[in-house]
Amino acid sequence: MKAFMNVLKRKQPMNSELTTAFQIETGSSTEAFAKKEQSLEDKSRQKPLSAPGLTLKKVNVRYGDTNAIEGACLDIPSGSITALVGPSGCGKSSLLASISRMTDLTPQCQVSGEIFLGKDNILAKGTDLNRLRRRVGMVFQSPNPFPMSIEENIRFPLRDHGMRDESVIRKTIKNVLGDVGLWDEVKDRLGQSALALSGGQQQRLCIARCLALDPEVLLFDEPCSALDPLSSAKVETLIKGLKSRYTVLLVTHNLAQARRIADHVAVCWVQAGCGCIIESGDTRSIFERPVHPITQAFCQGLQG
Ligand SMILES: Nc1ncnc2c1ncn2[C@@H]1O[C@H](COP(=O)(O)OP(=O)(O)OP(=O)(O)O)[C@@H](O)[C@H]1O
Ligand SMILES: [Mg+2]
Repeated sequence: MKAFMNVLKRKQPMNSELTTAFQIETGSSTEAFAKKEQSLEDKSRQKPLSAPGLTLKKVNVRYGDTNAIEGACLDIPSGSITALVGPSGCGKSSLLASISRMTDLTPQCQVSGEIFLGKDNILAKGTDLNRLRRRVGMVFQSPNPFPMSIEENIRFPLRDHGMRDESVIRKTIKNVLGDVGLWDEVKDRLGQSALALSGGQQQRLCIARCLALDPEVLLFDEPCSALDPLSSAKVETLIKGLKSRYTVLLVTHNLAQARRIADHVAVCWVQAGCGCIIESGDTRSIFERPVHPITQAFCQGLQG
């Protein structure tokens, strides 16, 4: 992420920096993606769900001597949205980062336990991080388009992953911008800077950039918190629409949002100095029949 942040700070980044940033964000391997070129072209936009779910088993995240997360267990089913809620500092972002192995990039951060994406333990030694980060897309709180044109924001990662056929690239750009409801808004100014878009449009562009690489899992870390209510509603509707094709984990501070769009909710809390998942279940049960007293108080707005 350091390289990614460096790129964003500069107006005219070096190509090599952008490449590194994309590799960190999504992983890349030229030959692997070249193989996907044809399949992407052929793929119907209404692809049937093939994404596996995620299973977290006794996951611990440590920064040096401090435990941020201890013993987190959670099932995140495919084809649905799981919301991760909890007060600031309880470890939600750390847990998300461990799923994409972004935690590897933080010095002093250690993750243990097991995280299964389908049958693959993400935390196992020898996991191909480039492949993993292609399978797991991540969208952050602040929209972070690259300082280049709207279409280059999509073309760049595609080319970086080995796609060369310009007609396929153009088709993919149109498809993913359509998927996020941006195509009609930007089709006449694809060559203009992405930084000139509104915050909400930038966030949807970032989601489109993730979708272009055809991930299986989408991780959203408070994707609406920097947006105005209208843009937030658009992104929310978009995430809801994506759930049938992906495994979605959404961190949100907005309990009303979790209630509106999530199928499952996990509550994270700090207990004995470190974050843990105190309760999880289907959204209705968590909000209407919570078992844990903290969940009860938190979901009723009495605590947190
Ligand atoms: N890079 C880091 N180095 C050291 N400690 C960290 C680092 N990142 C997070 N932490 C610590 O880990 C704990 C969990 O942080 P995290 O950002 O995961 O919480 P969060 O639930 O996402 O909070 P918020 O809702 O404010 O985003 C906090 O105590 C935080 O200080
Ligand atoms: Mg966070």
